Amino acid sequence: TGTSPQDLAGIAEEVARAAGRLIREQRPTRVEVAGTKTSQVDVVTQMDLASEALIRAELARLRPGDGMLGEEDGLIPGTSGLTWVVDPIDGTVNYLYGIPAYAVSVAVVSGEPVPGSWQVEAGCVHAVADGRTWTAARGRGARLDGRRLEIGPAAPLASALVGTGFGYRSRRRREQARVLTEVLPRVRDVRRIGSAALDLCAVASGQLNAYFERGLQPWDLAAGALVAQEAGATVSGLRGEPAGEVMTVAASPATHEALVALLESVRADAEELPDAT
Ligand code: IPD
Repeated sequence: TGTSPQDLAGIAEEVARAAGRLIREQRPTRVEVAGTKTSQVDVVTQMDLASEALIRAELARLRPGDGMLGEEDGLIPGTSGLTWVVDPIDGTVNYLYGIPAYAVSVAVVSGEPVPGSWQVEAGCVHAVADGRTWTAARGRGARLDGRRLEIGPAAPLASALVGTGFGYRSRRRREQARVLTEVLPRVRDVRRIGSAALDLCAVASGQLNAYFERGLQPWDLAAGALVAQEAGATVSGLRGEPAGEVMTVAASPATHEALVALLESVRADAEELPDAT
């Protein structure tokens, strides 16, 4: 196995599809919550854990020298300089309720596995319920089910369909609700799909004109951000810094500029008080 971004994208896809099969075929009729993380509403199902274990085992077999950062089990460093950044089920709450918007997100990065410090080499977002599969290799474009993606012309903000998402902590949500009251009257409409990876891919595929979210973790955004970028979107934070936990905004360049200006004007990344729950 080679290590060109395209080879790595192939491995990301293989592994994401294998996890997707597990998640689909073994979806219990009543998905059990295995635990909670940052708050009562931040759940992890037994299938998140099983999916991550399968991905870890597959990558250990296919790419023994690489590290892996997974949502559930954290970082296991490697020796090759490459780290796989994995969300075993992005959209866990949708999965729990049987809403078909959940995905396996697998990316591979060089450098520190931290948004902004890393270079994302390749990624795959596999929408488990309907099988749509986005792949991207750095400098080689983005594809949906093998078809090359190119985002359409920029939409004026007033007619833009804008995706967003919310963190799990109550203080963060209060802040996100405030920002939403400023954004909603100024755009066509807002969607909360429930999977950051699918939101970023929706921007790449033209189902959203833009997406923004505060509080994303590395595994939420690594693969999807590369897909959006390689399709021609601008993906960044609010002041030109790389996309990351403080803010992630993705859209075609002119829409991105307008949305960033709006988010800045309403101080969408204003400092928060420490969280209680
Ligand atoms: C969540 C989803 C959601 C986003 C949250 C993420 P998870 O990931 O991507 O859309 O709004 O910020 O934490 O917990 O389902 O893997």
